[in-house]
Amino acid sequence: MKGLIIIGSAKRGSHTHALAQYLKGQIEEKNQEVNVFDLAERPLHTLDFTGQNPTIDAFNQNAEELKKLADEADFIILGTPNYHGSYSGILKNALDHLTMDQFKMKPVGLVNNSGGIVSAEPLSHLRIIVRSLLGIAVPTQIATHDSDYKQLEDGTYYLSDDEFQLRARLFVDQILSFAENSPYEHLK
Ligand SMILES: Cc1cc2nc3c(=O)[nH]c(=O)nc-3n(C[C@H](O)[C@H](O)[C@H](O)COP(=O)(O)O)c2cc1C
Repeated sequence: MKGLIIIGSAKRGSHTHALAQYLKGQIEEKNQEVNVFDLAERPLHTLDFTGQNPTIDAFNQNAEELKKLADEADFIILGTPNYHGSYSGILKNALDHLTMDQFKMKPVGLVNNSGGIVSAEPLSHLRIIVRSLLGIAVPTQIATHDSDYKQLEDGTYYLSDDEFQLRARLFVDQILSFAENSPYEHLK
C-alpha cells in the first residue's frame, strides 16, 4: 500500500506541512509507505498549454514527479491552507496538472488549516473537485487552526493538540481501511 500527500501551502514549513508529517508518521506506524509532495518546496508552473511562455526545467520535472507519484498511489491526501474561505490556488493548479487517471476510484483524504476563524469550507469545496476527478473522498476529514500547533526551538511546527492527534489517527485508520478493502479495483 502506497500513499501520496499533496500540500498546497505557499509557505515552507507550513502548519499543513506539520499536519502532513503527523499523518505520515501514523501511516508509517501501520507499515505503509507514503510520499509527501509539498508544493512550496516543489513548485509547478501555472497550467499553460500555449507552449509560448518560458519554463523552468525544475518546475517541469516537479510536475512529472507529481504525476508519477499520484499514478503509483493507492490513496491520496490533499492538504491545504484556508485561503479566502477555500482551498489554495496552488493546490488547484497542481490538481489541474493531473487527471482522472490518477484519482479514479481511489480513496482521497482531505485536511486543511485556517489562521483566522477555523473552517472546513475548503474541504467541502475540495469534495466537489475530488468527485469530478472520480476519486472517493472519505468521510473523516481534519480542519485545524494555527493554535492547534506548537513550534520546536528551530521553529518547526508540530501538531500539539491531543484531540486533533486522535482525529488524525482515526483519519489514517479510515483511509487505509478504504484503500485496503477497495471493492472498486475493477472500475479503475
Ligand atoms: C491569500 C490568503 C488568504 C487567506 N484567507 C484566509 C481565510 O479566508 N480564512 C482564514 O481563516 N485564514 C486565511 N488566511 C490565513 C491562513 O489560513 C493562515 O496563514 C494559515 O496559517 C495557513 O496555514 P499554513 O501554515 O498551513 O499555510 C489566508 C492567508 C492567505 C495567504
